[in-house]
Amino acid sequence: MIIMVGISRILSLILLVSSCIFINLSTVPAAATSERKFTWEISYQYKSLDCYKKLAVAINGMTPGPTISAEQGDTIVVDVINNLLMENVAIHWHGIRQRGTRWSDGTDGVTQCAIMPGETYKYTFVVDRAGTFMYHSHYGLQREAGLYGLINVSLPIGVSEPFNYDFDRGIILSDWFHHSAYQHATGLSSITFQWVGEPQSLLINGRGNYSCSGLAASVCNSTNPECLPSALTVISGKTYRLRIASLTSLSALSFQIEDHEMTVVEAEGQYVEPFVVKNLYIYSGETYSVLVKANQDSSRNYWTSINVISRQPKTPNGLAIFNYYPNHFHKFPSTNPPLGPLWNDTRSQIIQSRSIKARQGFVVTPPKKPDRVIVLLNTQNTIDGYIRWSLNNVSHTLPSTPLLIAMKENITDVFDPNPPPEDYDSANYDIYSVPSNTNSVSSSSIYRLEFNSTVDIILQNSNSMTENVSESHPWHLHGHDFWVLGFGEGKFNLSRDNQSYNLVDPIMKNTVPLHPYGWTALRFKADNPGVWLFHCHIEAHFYLGMLVVFESGVEKVGDIPMSNYGCGKTKA
Ligand code: C2O
Ligand code: CU
Repeated sequence: MIIMVGISRILSLILLVSSCIFINLSTVPAAATSERKFTWEISYQYKSLDCYKKLAVAINGMTPGPTISAEQGDTIVVDVINNLLMENVAIHWHGIRQRGTRWSDGTDGVTQCAIMPGETYKYTFVVDRAGTFMYHSHYGLQREAGLYGLINVSLPIGVSEPFNYDFDRGIILSDWFHHSAYQHATGLSSITFQWVGEPQSLLINGRGNYSCSGLAASVCNSTNPECLPSALTVISGKTYRLRIASLTSLSALSFQIEDHEMTVVEAEGQYVEPFVVKNLYIYSGETYSVLVKANQDSSRNYWTSINVISRQPKTPNGLAIFNYYPNHFHKFPSTNPPLGPLWNDTRSQIIQSRSIKARQGFVVTPPKKPDRVIVLLNTQNTIDGYIRWSLNNVSHTLPSTPLLIAMKENITDVFDPNPPPEDYDSANYDIYSVPSNTNSVSSSSIYRLEFNSTVDIILQNSNSMTENVSESHPWHLHGHDFWVLGFGEGKFNLSRDNQSYNLVDPIMKNTVPLHPYGWTALRFKADNPGVWLFHCHIEAHFYLGMLVVFESGVEKVGDIPMSNYGCGKTKA
């Protein structure tokens, strides 16, 4: 650890020197884009990320996994070797649109057969724009076992961002359960439903701190250097671009640095009209870049803190050290860490969501009108005694034959050919109460969208099966960005609320929160041929049916690599 920090300091100095060279050479033509190759071996490893020892899924021994750093236009090739012995794997490149390579999306059941133990699978895709993205497992609840990391795509040399900073740092936020992903999944899909409980820890760059009191040192050892808080070392007077990604399984978070304001400048590969915050709300699947100036008392360190929001927290805040060089990077500040905002201050969460707009000069204006409007009522339900999540009373399931292959090759009987509902009985549904009849149905039906058409999605939240509880749901779309047209409280009313849409400077994103008892309106162009998931990024919700599948232009999809075949009806 000490050695690693030492090296990263030396590296920052080298970067400092080399960035001066870049400034001098900025007139040279941009380097040709290149191919970046990686070989990743996926295996189980004992880790003590929060001092408590548990099996984690690691990439080349690491969790979080290695950061992929690339330049816009590069081709990324990742050979994934599944060494898990008893478990499949699939890796999704979250935020990468996979134009031209839709079979590389890494979604088990949609674009490929999962990689079996002992097998190797090659992902090839182009990072076609600069920004902050992520990757993670897309197989069962495997992400929460630690299989995730960052993708940083920089602009070609000589092209600059519309803001200035001295250094760039990645920050991965996650939550950590001491139960295994198997126990979690089994409990969710059992009668009676068994909930593993809230996460034990919140992690910043893979480090947390669980209180080991009463546990044997072989199980939990608070002096283990693996669980020292991560340190972000800064030099007084410099400006840092923090690329923050939330890879939580369950938790929505607020991120803040004691006594330091942050300016939000990027979200998921799009420039944001800068705004200043004390705390950043970040939902699972979202990425942001914020600028932070090291302009406080450089004789001490400060806390960096994350706390759970929009669900009654039972997990202590996650902490890291904002370290002013040359103070020791593990010297704890003598102050109390910031507590963060109240978990249930939905108002301030909506206000921040509404402040995220496209940066002037970089606005992509949306089509004025949609060709189709799909309203999705989010509810918690039961099916034959099992707990599920549903959209318009349909809880979606994925078949054992990847849908992209089934649809492209016309393999029949793989999915339900009846179209899923586009709306719900809004006039008679009370979003503020536990539904009187919680029954729903499950289906593998698909929303088939006309290629190149403009589609509006209205996400409508409601009360769960527990009185006075409505959770936030971060919705993520594969293969596209959407315009975020608006957020509202209460029940959406099409003729009234579409008047309030932001059609002037909406941000484009791939993940957006649906706030408790509220609605979120999105617009996107179905211009990427393929079959794409749109789902809640909370792993347990996705696992229990909180997803829909969009198909558009599947006939335009080129030849799918044979390595995607081999399961369900693609065996032959
Ligand atoms: Cu990051 Cu389908 O998810
Ligand atoms: Cu959800």
